Amino acid sequence: MNIIETTEELRRTLAPVRGRERIAFVPTMGCLHEGHLGLIRKARRLADIVVVSIYINPMQFGPNEDFDAYPRTFEQDSALCEKEGVDIIFHPHNLYPVDGIKVSLRVSELDGCLCGASRPGHFNGVVTVVNMLFNIVQPDIAIFGEKDWQQLAIISRMVSDLHMGVEIIGAPTLRENDGVALSSRNRYLSIEDRSKAPRLHEALQSIQNLLEQGETQSSKLIELGKARLADAGITPEYLEIRNAVTLQTANTIDAPCRVFIAARIGNTRLIDNIPLEHATDRESDRIIEPATETLL
Ligand code: PAF
Repeated sequence: MNIIETTEELRRTLAPVRGRERIAFVPTMGCLHEGHLGLIRKARRLADIVVVSIYINPMQFGPNEDFDAYPRTFEQDSALCEKEGVDIIFHPHNLYPVDGIKVSLRVSELDGCLCGASRPGHFNGVVTVVNMLFNIVQPDIAIFGEKDWQQLAIISRMVSDLHMGVEIIGAPTLRENDGVALSSRNRYLSIEDRSKAPRLHEALQSIQNLLEQGETQSSKLIELGKARLADAGITPEYLEIRNAVTLQTANTIDAPCRVFIAARIGNTRLIDNIPLEHATDRESDRIIEPATETLL
């Protein structure tokens, strides 16, 4: 495995294989856990060369979010990548000009809801850095986790709006046996918080179950989900059903939709989402192909 710190060296290393071998890219901010390893394994299955970037992107942190406190665990991350057969770790020190970035990307509409609503500017930082990384790595495919569905939807739309030649592939959320979605934040849960955490997925699942029983009105489905959460003493920051591609509110479940949740358990903010599907059209492993999905 090659650990590369500069754009020039990465370009030099990939030049001989470009166009001849399929390059898969998994962008990360490090602190890798099983969820990331799932993305890497999917990349490994789909491509000849796997590039993982580890870069904590300052532009996606808000003024009240602690960029300096973000965990940095490079030694452990690189050992995990090595074990998973990653070919290249791209670990740049800084991707931004010293006098500050003057030209960047801006998301509209898609970032006004869900996590974007409470993190103004966050997704501008994400698309700007992902665009930089795509320009540097020039992968054939890039893998993103479905747990951060809003990020996946925005990046898919970026690739389609800006005619980028990268195929975006979503990887399903990996879960503990009790349904809790894998996340680097789970480590901050106390024992008591951890025992409450499965309630989020249970609430999402209860909504899916009610849909399968024939209820297609979002308001009714959300009412049930909120009641389930209230039983566990949880008030969600949001619990919403939205179109999976446009992220617009869905009043009824007649197009591909997902139910999204964010809630604080103790001091830890957790997010999750699942697809809402009528019993007849369930999918387990979905691939987002923006060119077709944006038409839905
Ligand atoms: O999901 C993340 O870890 C980050 O938002 C990403 C995509 C690596 C961009 O910094």
